[in-house]
Amino acid sequence: MKTLNVDLGTRSYPIHIGTGLLDKPDLIRSHIQGNEVMVVTNDTIAPLYLERCLKLLDGYDIATTILPDGEQYKTLDTLNLVFDGLLKKHFTRRCTLVALGGGVIGDITGFAAASYQRGVNFIQIPTTLLAQVDSSVGGKTGVNHPLGKNMIGAFHQPQCVIADTDTLNTLDDRQLSAGIAEVIKYGLINDAEFFNWLEDNLSKLMSRDSDALSHAIERSCHDKATIVAADEKEAGVRALLNLGHTFGHAIETGTGYGTWLHGEAISCGMLMAAELSHKQGWFTQEELSRTQTILSQANLPVLPPTSMNSEQFIDIMSVDKKNLEKKIRLILMKGIGKSFISDDFDTTLLNETLSDSLSRAQQG
Ligand code: NAD
Ligand code: GLY
Repeated sequence: MKTLNVDLGTRSYPIHIGTGLLDKPDLIRSHIQGNEVMVVTNDTIAPLYLERCLKLLDGYDIATTILPDGEQYKTLDTLNLVFDGLLKKHFTRRCTLVALGGGVIGDITGFAAASYQRGVNFIQIPTTLLAQVDSSVGGKTGVNHPLGKNMIGAFHQPQCVIADTDTLNTLDDRQLSAGIAEVIKYGLINDAEFFNWLEDNLSKLMSRDSDALSHAIERSCHDKATIVAADEKEAGVRALLNLGHTFGHAIETGTGYGTWLHGEAISCGMLMAAELSHKQGWFTQEELSRTQTILSQANLPVLPPTSMNSEQFIDIMSVDKKNLEKKIRLILMKGIGKSFISDDFDTTLLNETLSDSLSRAQQG
């Protein structure tokens, strides 16, 4: 097992990464105060891992809430089901919520923990690659609104993250690729050496080589933990973690939550950010081709949905959380591993990027 630390003073916490962690009760029990524990999961993950998770918690006053599976259920209504369960059990401020699942379960459970009785503890047990490399770390929690992705939420850090890499064995290939999109993101943001490693080792990741997967998860968590420690509430550098997200969230919102996987939308969004950076003269043709190649080799989409148009993109992108004073702010790149936040790009080139990608998508 490898343990990394998210360094946030009194709110610091460990990220444990390794195999067989769902059989190690001490990891989780040492982070639970009091006796009340609620495990939140969904109807896909419950048959796979709930029993083992409950065994870790033997002896506590345990409740479980099993939510419907899917991004389309990442809503205030679903969040309310967690509150119903907590209140029915008369759970107090000393309770701990355990998120057993992917990013959807982690984000909903974290937000429930942030707001139940003005804040209780929670623990992340991420079971998708995307959740193990990204969503379980850093304390962003929340739900979607029909008009905007992740628009209702709070920053609330977990007590610990337990990433058992064995859980990835039951993940389907499409979900694995969606997680690889976020892994590639770290290379593009500020880790060119990791990007080179990913180019050399992508086929191992795709075939679930355990050493390659462990390395990718550890490096991703290390890169994310460093950024979160520097800027927990996204006053500056943390915004870089949103590379591809302004375009990607527009795709998720525009196509209806759950149609495109989050990682797929981010893949397409990262290529659009790369293309705009290239049109600006900041990102070379070679860097653009390398970005497109690695995303395509990971079986990720690089073209937007044909059901959308440029106006729809701009409309949805205008309600992004990074925007200030109604100006779209994007994460762009001045090379692989050299991302930066900008509202100082040519909007004509943004429109060109959208229309070029959309017409390529139309042509198939
Ligand atoms: P997800 O939570 O929907 O999980 C993907 C699918 O895999 C689901 O059907 C799930 O039930 C299933 N699943 C989960 N673990 C499994 C396992 N071990 N075996 C088999 N099936 C399994 O999607 P995701 O990709 O994990 O997360 C995407 C969500 O995360 C989005 O809502 C996104 O906004 C959010 N996100 C949040 C942050 C953050 O910082 N909080 C960062 C990135 C993404
Ligand atoms: N996934 C973006 C962030 O955690 O800031």
